[in-house]
Amino acid sequence: MSRQILIAGNWKMNKGAAEGAQLIKDLKAQFGECPCCSCGQKPEVLVCPPFTTLSAVIAETAGSCLEVGAQNVHWAEKGAYTGEISAAMLKETGVTYVIIGHSERRQYFGETDATVNQRLLAALKAGLKVIVCVGETLKEREEGVTIAVIERQVRGALANVDATAMKDVVIAYEPVWAIGTGKVATEAQAQEVHQCIRALLKKLYECPCVADNTRILYGGSMNAANAAGLLAQPDIDGGLIGGAALKPADFATIIKAAFAQMNA
Ligand code: PGA
Repeated sequence: MSRQILIAGNWKMNKGAAEGAQLIKDLKAQFGECPCCSCGQKPEVLVCPPFTTLSAVIAETAGSCLEVGAQNVHWAEKGAYTGEISAAMLKETGVTYVIIGHSERRQYFGETDATVNQRLLAALKAGLKVIVCVGETLKEREEGVTIAVIERQVRGALANVDATAMKDVVIAYEPVWAIGTGKVATEAQAQEVHQCIRALLKKLYECPCVADNTRILYGGSMNAANAAGLLAQPDIDGGLIGGAALKPADFATIIKAAFAQMNA
């Protein structure tokens, strides 16, 4: 069994259309052509800009292997939800992925396990792939409830998601205390949680292929210096990267580490 590494950049609320297109140009320049022009097994590479930057980035990535995703989606198909964007609207822009349940959404915008699940079901129904984020706070880690919190979040996110639909689901483990802090989980800390998530998938789904095939990304201060070590862990199948995704040279180094890991 081999899972294709996914390197995903979460730009958060950074880069307007012009700057975003430039960032893609600079990223492509790091590879001569584009990341997929290298030989051997290829990781999947995704960038997730703000909504209003999507079309510029989609235009700039055309003809390359770079994929584009959004950072959130609403669960309703349409209606009186001022400020929200539906899954069909996202699909129409050409994005293939959407991030759901990022800790910043949970922390600042009242996202709950139940709304994460609603968004996830709507995205899958519209034919989008999802990256669903889970992660404990520092307080929860210190209280020794990390695994219980992760288990609750994973179970909540995946309610009513059947084994077939799981082919379009990626899980991102992002310890809240490591996001944007420069404080990265150790390889062992990350691997431990990833292994628990995979074990939980084994419990939740009768078919062992779900646990074997579902990609689990690490997120939280992944950077050019620590990516290779994290990606070498048996249950870490990629990264969800914030700060370092805004720096073309650093993001390219992470992508190259993924190439190296896949062809090791
Ligand atoms: P960071 O962000 O890499 O800047 O820590 C990761 C994320 O929030 O997805």
